[in-house]
Amino acid sequence: MSPLNALEETVVHDVPWWKTSICGPQEIQRFLDAAAGEHISQGPVTAELETRLAAALEVPYAVATTSGSVALLMALMALGIGRDDEVIVPNRTFIATAHAPWLLGAKVVLVDAQPESPNMDVAQLERLITPRTKAIMPVHLNGRAVDMEAVRALATAHRLLVIEDAAQALFSRNARGMLGTQSDAGCFSLGVTKLLSTGQGGFVVTRRQDVYERLRLIRNHGVDDVLTGSFQQGGFNFKFTDLLAAIGLAQLARGSERIAHARRVYARYAEALAELPFMRLIPVDVAGGEVPLWIEVLCPERATCVEFLAARGVRTRLFLPDLHRSPHLMNRGEFPHSTRFSQQGLCLPCGPALSLEQVERVIDVLQRYRDRS
Ligand SMILES: Cc1ncc(COP(=O)(O)O)c(C=O)c1O
Repeated sequence: MSPLNALEETVVHDVPWWKTSICGPQEIQRFLDAAAGEHISQGPVTAELETRLAAALEVPYAVATTSGSVALLMALMALGIGRDDEVIVPNRTFIATAHAPWLLGAKVVLVDAQPESPNMDVAQLERLITPRTKAIMPVHLNGRAVDMEAVRALATAHRLLVIEDAAQALFSRNARGMLGTQSDAGCFSLGVTKLLSTGQGGFVVTRRQDVYERLRLIRNHGVDDVLTGSFQQGGFNFKFTDLLAAIGLAQLARGSERIAHARRVYARYAEALAELPFMRLIPVDVAGGEVPLWIEVLCPERATCVEFLAARGVRTRLFLPDLHRSPHLMNRGEFPHSTRFSQQGLCLPCGPALSLEQVERVIDVLQRYRDRS
């Protein structure tokens, strides 16, 4: 076999850790329609996407922007977070959750994960509250609901704001409804590894009209129209683009199909992993309405296992490092539960465009790992 053939062989047979699709016929048609109508920058297509996202999430308001990270920043700005404030953030999350308050000059106060779930341990929140605490940012990791009843009760008792980071939890529900809609503001990502994607993109939802109005102004340098506005408040250019919103509309139409696929993939892995003693699925409450975005597992012998899988063309993604390891966030201390998740956690191949045959291939390689002598 020539070196080129060998390369093709690898490419064809590798199973990526995540596979999505954002260029189906509907996406392409919507994109061309937007371009033909010269809807390129933020305009009517973005407005339509916002209306449809709000309806799908059962909230009055949605504001689209360039990423989930910017959605978090805008939400905190709209709620008046700034210097001298403390914001409680989980130690186990993507660092975007912490960088939003950090960019605004607030102090980020980290809270450990639960022993059995990577989500924040709500029972530890109260001892972290000080007179400077202004907000709590629960993160619904991989579609798993943080106990919002408990967070809201604490927030009411201490007069705190709550901003949900639901970047990994689009269309996940708890008993009260959609995650991301149960606080002052909820933030979502439309990045590549999310349920729906526009390549880059994100949005904020809120039930508060005052927050909605501030979000719209913050997104456009503090004015409705930069040519006629009088710049009475701060803001920036956080505008979305109609070309990406067009893709977003086509993606949104695929929401139910994607949720069903994610649940099928999760159920198949759950069944297979029950027979594999070296790896444990971190559960998602599918029966309760949660959507398992990724297939997250714990594996104490992670390095050996990942190497075995990679040598057989199965790609995985390791859990990201804990936030207390980032010196600029200035949080020392012990975070034993999130540390365990960061050392043992990984994601197995999944995603809207990953086929069930590819899932079977991964399971076959995992079984061979178990049976190796
Ligand atoms: C929990 C969480 N918050 C925020 C973000 C940031 O979203 P984006 O990548 O769209 O900026 C992500 C992205 O992975 C995330 O997982």
